Amino acid sequence: MITSVQKADFLVVGGGVAGLRAAIELASKGSVIVLTKGKPTESSTEYAQGGVAVALSDEDKVGIHYEDTIKAGDGLCNEEGVRILVEEGPERILELISWGAEFDKEGSRLSFAREAAHSRKRILHSKGDSTGREIERVLISKARSFSSITRYDFAFTVDLIVSNGRCIGASVLRGNEVINIFAKAVILATGGAGQIFSRTTNPSIATGDGMAIAYRAGALLADMEFMQFHPTTLYYPAAPQFLLSEAMRGEGALLRNINKKRFMPEYHEMAELASRDTVARAIVSEMIRTKARHVYLDLTHLDKGFIKKRFPMIYSTCLRFDIDITEDLIPVSPAAHYIMGGVRTNLDGQTSLKGLYAAGEVACTGVHGANRLASNSLLEGLVYGARTGMRAVKYAGRVKIETLAKSSMEKLNRELSSDSLKKFDIEKTRSLLRRVMWSKTGIIRCKKSLDSAKKRLSEWDFLKSLPSLDRRILELKNMITVANLMTESALLREGSAGAHYRSDFKERGVKWQRHTACRKDRGSYWLR
Ligand code: FAD
Ligand code: SIN
Repeated sequence: MITSVQKADFLVVGGGVAGLRAAIELASKGSVIVLTKGKPTESSTEYAQGGVAVALSDEDKVGIHYEDTIKAGDGLCNEEGVRILVEEGPERILELISWGAEFDKEGSRLSFAREAAHSRKRILHSKGDSTGREIERVLISKARSFSSITRYDFAFTVDLIVSNGRCIGASVLRGNEVINIFAKAVILATGGAGQIFSRTTNPSIATGDGMAIAYRAGALLADMEFMQFHPTTLYYPAAPQFLLSEAMRGEGALLRNINKKRFMPEYHEMAELASRDTVARAIVSEMIRTKARHVYLDLTHLDKGFIKKRFPMIYSTCLRFDIDITEDLIPVSPAAHYIMGGVRTNLDGQTSLKGLYAAGEVACTGVHGANRLASNSLLEGLVYGARTGMRAVKYAGRVKIETLAKSSMEKLNRELSSDSLKKFDIEKTRSLLRRVMWSKTGIIRCKKSLDSAKKRLSEWDFLKSLPSLDRRILELKNMITVANLMTESALLREGSAGAHYRSDFKERGVKWQRHTACRKDRGSYWLR
């Protein structure tokens, strides 16, 4: 294994909406390295469908967007964080449009759609259901216009480099090379962790690396029990777990049980437009009641031409599996979608570790509380990506790039034994882990299921100390770490709030307005 050293003013780990927006903010202030662990576009951002929420329509106000976000967050939002999100959102979107983003229009005016738990039409979308791709396209192209930004793709960040309580860089695996990249400030923008569940909407990159990396480096994480499950993903043996956007229900799609009967009105007055957690739990309850593995999403009463124009990507993807969404009921079931918890930051992206910043899904600003409002995540990436960049610039003005002669990766490199993991079946363990998390730490949890998840997870504890530079093993270690933190936090919260539902504690519980935290030297505990 070759080891080399590189330096930059800023290191951004992640090339989705949050990482790229941060990098663009940093570009005029120094040299920036942006890392992605796969190809540049492989991110949750790229696959975002429904759109981006922003209070820009005539019928909307930032105050109403604020109220809807707070309500969805179920009493646990950081109110100041939400205010910033909705107030700075319009400026960030107009800026994106000025950089070339094309959102769908009706005539010459932007077209706003409705999604669940939004009281107004406020979702901007692109090419119907390919909003994320458009945002990623524009940000990549904008980032390319700065000569100060260098991209390394297929560069897997293994660990942060910490010296005297300060993050000074990261160790990165690229091909058969370990690169120690030293920077004044490091920004984590590694996205979510949906891959720790066997049913997920998330792309393969979403293995919770940033959370595990920050945890190992001693940073504080918060609200890890709050995992959002999206109500509708395609449930079809031959097909991948493909998301069926909430915007479909926003346009009038209905849920039907296996007997083709509507059931949502019995669960909530808002029926199909109730918040995500409510709809996902109602679907699971209905699946249990009818002993079925899925329910149906029904668009057949909507105009065929409208469906094809509004959801072209979903239409053509489903057709590949012989489902014509204009004529057939679509089999769907919920899947892990978005983690509200993560590396705890203030509203400028600062983590508890000096020199380390975080933005986007990996971060926990508290802006989504216990349950994220649909289409608020892309907006969060833009608003908080930019804010994090601005704060990192201020910090970098006060420090120098520090390098270390030896980092832990070099030590690891020396210790590495190719035999140590020979007998270990990585793929089997990964699959087991994902199934354990789905069945025990999933949509409906209780002490018994969570204890059993913990027990299973502890069987893989030995992996943590095994040296390896195999990317699949490094990812698996991260997944085990994040799965443990989620399970422990879910055990700690003896109550139900937002996306966290305990069948043995259906009420909120006494500590419900407090936040859970995890830190390497303290385990899981209640904040404040
Ligand atoms: P990502 O976009 O996931 O980017 C993560 C980046 O980190 C990637 O570049 C990856 O390569 C890199 N990375 C990760 N680990 C490492 C590592 N170890 N080393 C180096 N690089 C690493 N939200 C909305 O607001 N509206 C929507 O319509 C919407 N639809 C969605 C549809 C789907 C199918 C999914 C999965 C999510 C959707 N979301 C939506 C959520 C939203 O897309 C994500 O929360 C958001 O894009 C996350 O952006 P991010 O920049 O934080 O992370
Ligand atoms: C969707 O299109 O349903 C996803 C929207 C989101 O996650 O915000």
